[in-house]
Amino acid sequence: MKLILGIESSCDETGIALYHTERGLLAHTLHSQIAMHNEYGGVVPELASRDHVRYALPLVREVMKQASCTLGDIDTIAFTQGPGLSGALLVGASVACSLAYALNIPTIAVHHLEGHLLSPLLSDPAPEFPFVALLVSGGHTQLMRVDGVGLYTLLGETLDDAAGEAFDKSAKLLGLDYPGGALLSKLAQHGSPGRFKLPRPMLHSGDLDFSFSGLKTAILLVVQKNAQDEQTRADIARAAQDAIVEVLVKKSLSALKLTGLKQLVIAGGVGANQALRAQLNQAAQQHSFKVFYPDLEFCTDNGAMIAFAGALRMQQHEAQRDYRFNVKPRWDLQQFSQAD
Ligand code: KG4
Ligand code: ZN
Repeated sequence: MKLILGIESSCDETGIALYHTERGLLAHTLHSQIAMHNEYGGVVPELASRDHVRYALPLVREVMKQASCTLGDIDTIAFTQGPGLSGALLVGASVACSLAYALNIPTIAVHHLEGHLLSPLLSDPAPEFPFVALLVSGGHTQLMRVDGVGLYTLLGETLDDAAGEAFDKSAKLLGLDYPGGALLSKLAQHGSPGRFKLPRPMLHSGDLDFSFSGLKTAILLVVQKNAQDEQTRADIARAAQDAIVEVLVKKSLSALKLTGLKQLVIAGGVGANQALRAQLNQAAQQHSFKVFYPDLEFCTDNGAMIAFAGALRMQQHEAQRDYRFNVKPRWDLQQFSQAD
């Protein structure tokens, strides 16, 4: 029976949570920096680090209050060690390690993507191992086979832009605010399908890799050639969304076919996209598989998934008492997996 404090600070969200190995998630809280980065059109790493400094400890106090716990009740502190922005990661790592040192308790370094991969287990109904996970965020697009905690096999990934990045860049070309994924999706609701035909990169590549960087060039050409009336912008948004979603759905189906698995889990911010969900739900009915979407608050970056991954890792005796900390801005999940 253990209480784990989780700290996430890899990018533009400070997420803090308390997870109890028997009682489950006791409290979690999040501060998003989106509004601050918005005026720059993307995440400014130095501003991100400073903001994590500002919010980390107040949010720790807030979860303690929410859960009616004291710092003395915490058994272990889990923190995101990578991948992510180095300055941002350093804030979480230093808060975790200094707090653990002061409390004389161990720490667990968590891989951010492992947090995402295991986060569906926080929801009800939860998938059972093994499953295929489609991880689609602003920084990552990967298909993984997940056989258990620490057992991850990369099936395919993007060779350039992530799916979220493709949404955001397309949105920017249409003059929408950053991050534009959700705004583009909203605009696309009024768009008519088929007016603009955009490429489906690597759809027939025969593997499970993705490429989205060509899409923005194609959209740029369409934007330049056409008048920017409201209907045209909506039609372009629709075309961009249709192209990205079709590739994500078809590659996910191929991953299920290749592995013979019958459960697909969607993690990461793009998992919020309604068109993606509708098409996956339809495919799940047609091809008799189950699709799981973690609650939206656990889909995007959060502290709960880090506390939870820490709790699962702790069962494998991974906690340690060496308070010298380092971060891993580039950290390959495959290297770290025990799957062959
Ligand atoms: O997982 P996430 O919150 O953060 C990381 O990148 O780690 O994902 C953020 C990404 C952004 O690119 C955002 O535009 C995209 O998820 N996103 C969406 C939607 N909501 C968020 N993309 C498409 N449709 C949405 N409804
Ligand atoms: Zn993430």
